Amino acid sequence: MEGPEPLRLWALAALVLGVARATVPEHRVLPDLRVSAETGAVFVHELERELFLEAFSGSEDDDAPVTFRAHLWDHPDLPRWLRFIQRDPGQPGFLYGCPLAPELGTHSIQVLAYNRHTFATVSQRLLVSVTPAPGGDAPFQAEFLVGNRNVEELLPEAAREMFLQASAGVWGRGDLHVINVTSALDRGGRVPLPIEGRREGVYVQVGSHSPFSPCLASAVSPLSRSRCHRGQRPLASCYDTFAPDFSIRWCNLTLLQVWPSPTTPGPVWGPGVLGEGGDFEPPTPVVAREFLPSFLVTLLVPLAVAALLCLLLGHLMCCRREGVEKRDLQTSDLQLLHHSSIHGDSRELRLMATSRDVPRPLSTLPMFNVRTGQRSDPMGNLRDGARAPLLPH
Ligand SMILES: *[C@@H]1O[C@H](CO)[C@@H](O)[C@H](O)[C@H]1NC(C)=O
Ligand SMILES: *[C@@H]1O[C@H](CO)[C@@H](O)[C@H](O)[C@H]1NC(C)=O
Repeated sequence: MEGPEPLRLWALAALVLGVARATVPEHRVLPDLRVSAETGAVFVHELERELFLEAFSGSEDDDAPVTFRAHLWDHPDLPRWLRFIQRDPGQPGFLYGCPLAPELGTHSIQVLAYNRHTFATVSQRLLVSVTPAPGGDAPFQAEFLVGNRNVEELLPEAAREMFLQASAGVWGRGDLHVINVTSALDRGGRVPLPIEGRREGVYVQVGSHSPFSPCLASAVSPLSRSRCHRGQRPLASCYDTFAPDFSIRWCNLTLLQVWPSPTTPGPVWGPGVLGEGGDFEPPTPVVAREFLPSFLVTLLVPLAVAALLCLLLGHLMCCRREGVEKRDLQTSDLQLLHHSSIHGDSRELRLMATSRDVPRPLSTLPMFNVRTGQRSDPMGNLRDGARAPLLPH
């Protein structure tokens, strides 16, 4: 029985290794990547599959499907101005959006790539620093709806250049730049039928510092609009330089003129801000201060005032008291007499009430005959009749 034992050990080891590889997929971290963006212009960052495929160590197949995820560092979602799209794991991902003035500064984005075959992951930190556009916002903006493209097809640099060249033909100017790229699905468009050649449609916003050409102006004129309402093509006063690569829906063209907002003055440095390269010099040590006098003043002055007020009140209440004599002097004699007579009467009544040994009035006696004045002894009457005591005294 020599054979099966090493075999079993090998199988066990392979199993353990396999389980370990399956349960703890590899994770690698790529070095940080710094990119810059300008306000008022589209920012596009392509997540190339090849770069991440190289980082998946030990992955033999060079064409493994890769899924990307992107979110703000330490946060679950992307910043508001940034959107992400990856059509399927065989294609690159795109981070795109148009930052505005409130987004100035550095945005730290975490990008995660999953190898769908090995479950290995690679992460990369993307530092997007948004700087203000040197020329300010473009005052003239036109938004084209490209009917025969998906959003990720217009995001690569080459496709955007091609689009700008085509729009320069219609606009007649060369200083155009792409401001925003949006899928028509984000604007209420419909998902196309799964038929070859059908696309979602993309809105491309192009800006310039020079006014619109007559060609563009005529495409949004009321006459053209009414033709659009009737389902006809708008008036075309120039050659459509977009065709045949981009089929523009001319009825959905929007022209926008943005008036430059007055730039608000930046913060003004006060005297407390240290100059460039200056050393901080602490103030000289302060002299020790004597706080006893101020303490005493704070404590003693209110105490003295309080004592003074006490004395004044005491004097008024004890020594300046004016009594009965003053009151009597101020009252008229008649009033005093009246008062004292009431006093005397009531005192007399009170005295009478205390000594009740005066004889009772006759009318209160029970056996008093009002007409004859005769009275009988009630006790004597009680003697006869039923109330007579049974035993004589
Ligand atoms: C760009 O397009 C998106 C989606 O339509 C919109 O939310 C965003 O405000 C646009 N940005 C600018 C600067 O117009
Ligand atoms: C294009 O404009 C028409 C009306 O002018 C509107 O009905 C249609 O929804 C727009 N298409 C898209 C994709 O927004």
